Amino acid sequence: MGKIIAISNHKGGVGKTTSAINIGAGLALKGKKVLLVDIDPQANMSQSLNIVDHNPNIYGALKGMYGLEAVKIQKNLYLVPAAGELGGAEIELSAEAGREFLLKELIENQAEKYDYVLIDCPPSLGLLTINAFTAAHEIFIPMQAQYLALQGIGKLLGLVEKIKKRLNPELEITGIFITQFDRRKVLNRYVMDTLESHFGEKVFKTRIRNNVALAEAPNAGCDIFTYQQSSNGAFDYGQLTKEILKRR
Ligand SMILES: Nc1ncnc2c1ncn2[C@@H]1O[C@H](COP(=O)(O)OP(=O)(O)OP(=O)(O)O)[C@@H](O)[C@H]1O
Ligand SMILES: [Mg+2]
Repeated sequence: MGKIIAISNHKGGVGKTTSAINIGAGLALKGKKVLLVDIDPQANMSQSLNIVDHNPNIYGALKGMYGLEAVKIQKNLYLVPAAGELGGAEIELSAEAGREFLLKELIENQAEKYDYVLIDCPPSLGLLTINAFTAAHEIFIPMQAQYLALQGIGKLLGLVEKIKKRLNPELEITGIFITQFDRRKVLNRYVMDTLESHFGEKVFKTRIRNNVALAEAPNAGCDIFTYQQSSNGAFDYGQLTKEILKRR
């Protein structure tokens, strides 16, 4: 069975979606079969890969209308897209029996077909994120190197502890990494040092630098390796992918 990894941080705009797409594409280029699952009602991951308002999607699957059906993006890379209706899912599913396990059930049926399943979480800690944490083996947390970035993390760690205790004992935070890194800023280095002293080995050595190509690629509807192989963004996500593979 493939590794199921939720990419989460309830802080918005920290690089969750960018990381899910480009780690996924990086792993796919290394010959791993990857399933991306978009459970963010903003559907940014789906839009960034040019899959817009697609049916079937994760909303219908969570509602029990059909199973998990993936779209092929490129060699080794597949996507279960989100659609706008997902915005209502948290409320619609809140009275459902076993509502925390809906995604786990859907993914379990599929996970043996893939080496990695990467779940792009919304910037909140509601039922969709709880579903991702219940389904996942591991959590990756992308962070910006800002003072407030660290302040918010306690809430996320608290939720992970609760999910571990009540719903998914094997869940672990295994990867924390800095995105939009600017080495000229002193604070960036301070945050990196603080992270390493708190989380030790869990912090990836690779830092994803600020790179305009990473922000442009979604407009072109593709990952950074397809968009601009020579960019710092492609280099950094390539390094991060290597680090992820080396840990296995
Ligand atoms: N390393 C980077 N360099 C430059 N721009 C980046 C980088 N990483 C992400 N961005 C841009 O920053 C914005 C936020 O990134 P992204 O959408 O990946 O964050 P997110 O955590 O998924 O956001 P949300 O919380 O809304 O889901 C996007 O416009 C993205 O293109
Ligand atoms: Mg996002």
